[in-house]
Amino acid sequence: MDSRLLDALQCPLCKNVFRKRKRGRSDRGSDFGVIECRCSEFPVVAGIPILRNDALTEHVKDVILNDNPSVALHLLLNRPTNFLPGRPSLAKLASKVRHLPDPFSLVSRYLTGGATIESQFNSVESIDTFDEAVRTVGITNRYCQYLLHRPFAQSFWNCHAVLPLVTAETGPVLDYGGGWGHTAQLLKIATSRPIFSLEVDFKPLYFTKRYLEPETKGVIIERGNDLPFSEDAFKTLIDLDGFHYVHNKNGTASEYERVTRADGSILLLHTHNSNINERANFGAPLRASEYAECFSRETIGVPERDFLTDFVTASDTYTASDTSVSETQEFNFFIGHDEVSIDWTDHPLSNPSGEFTLNPLYEKSANGITRGTVLPAFAREFDLSMEATNEYYSRDEIHDRARELLYKGVLTTLPPTYTSSDRRISI
Ligand SMILES: C[S@@+](CC[C@H](N)C(=O)[O-])C[C@H]1O[C@@H](n2cnc3c(N)ncnc32)[C@H](O)[C@@H]1O
Ligand SMILES: [Zn+2]
Repeated sequence: MDSRLLDALQCPLCKNVFRKRKRGRSDRGSDFGVIECRCSEFPVVAGIPILRNDALTEHVKDVILNDNPSVALHLLLNRPTNFLPGRPSLAKLASKVRHLPDPFSLVSRYLTGGATIESQFNSVESIDTFDEAVRTVGITNRYCQYLLHRPFAQSFWNCHAVLPLVTAETGPVLDYGGGWGHTAQLLKIATSRPIFSLEVDFKPLYFTKRYLEPETKGVIIERGNDLPFSEDAFKTLIDLDGFHYVHNKNGTASEYERVTRADGSILLLHTHNSNINERANFGAPLRASEYAECFSRETIGVPERDFLTDFVTASDTYTASDTSVSETQEFNFFIGHDEVSIDWTDHPLSNPSGEFTLNPLYEKSANGITRGTVLPAFAREFDLSMEATNEYYSRDEIHDRARELLYKGVLTTLPPTYTSSDRRISI
């Protein structure tokens, strides 16, 4: 386990530091083990501490103490743990089916919801890419598609837009409700700062470390508990598309303020506004005017769409000193700011060069790249993206407009472990 992560953690219950427990060392080295404080012992699985007190966590801890890391991992991924001796050979057989001509291969894809048959038999541990692995861990085909296209969703563009604010600060960044790692990966590559990610769900954090950004310092927390860090541990806290899902908003807001220095930034990006009913069933959103009341620090709230339109239409700078509460769907809140000022000319990715990964929504051809179809279920989420990106970019355009394509999620900073086909583009 990452020693910098262990050093930064404090127990959410007794507030003491952790140390590694001596017994229970497994054949996987220190990525699997148990950490202890004065009040509790918690398991560490694939380098991720699970700071929870439920029956599953207890079971996982026992399994680790019995030197069975693979079983611990599969318990947390909610996958079968009775590793049948025949499974790997079934996977091999299934991979042959994939190479059969249509309609056999089509039928096999249909039966497995778009996944390859071999991935149904293989353990996630043996799958090399995010796009294949994500289909094996029990989430819907629809959500798999959403995750693959994530950098193209307008809410994700916020992360690009605030990068100059992040680079202006120092020290580690806390990505709260970090999800499947798209944010952690971008923050890491663009700012080189250590990225801590907190999640209530194990799968996304495992995927983050395994496929997107292995250096992410990820921790699983219990909803409603205090955050596992000391006061003023961070200068930047990002919560993208997350705060409306938090049930104890006042308690969480005061925890955000405790772990973030008063001269730092807490950024609540893409926060749903309950004035608009359309998304009433996504989490438990407040009215736009109510979010700021959860915090004691100065807060500026701006409608996301206006902010992003400025960003992608290449404004040089963004400034806001008032909260504008309007009837728009989503808001960005800048907490700890009496004024927001972002210089987009000084953006860490303003002169992209090197290799980038094409968003899986796009197809590469000899002459350029063409956009595919977004599922109707995400039409609202991808509304601005569809409006602001062309359906076709010629080869020359890709090079001339690389910065813009990157900000809009057509190109991504994601590593080759993201998709299985060759989707790398050199700039
Ligand atoms: C819509 S996703 C956003 C993920 C990521 N920030 C992104 O933008 O790609 C919300 C995430 O918050 C997590 N989450 C929900 N409630 C939470 C809570 N109370 N504390 C921490 N994470 C939570 C969920 O597991 C989920 O991964
Ligand atoms: Zn404790």
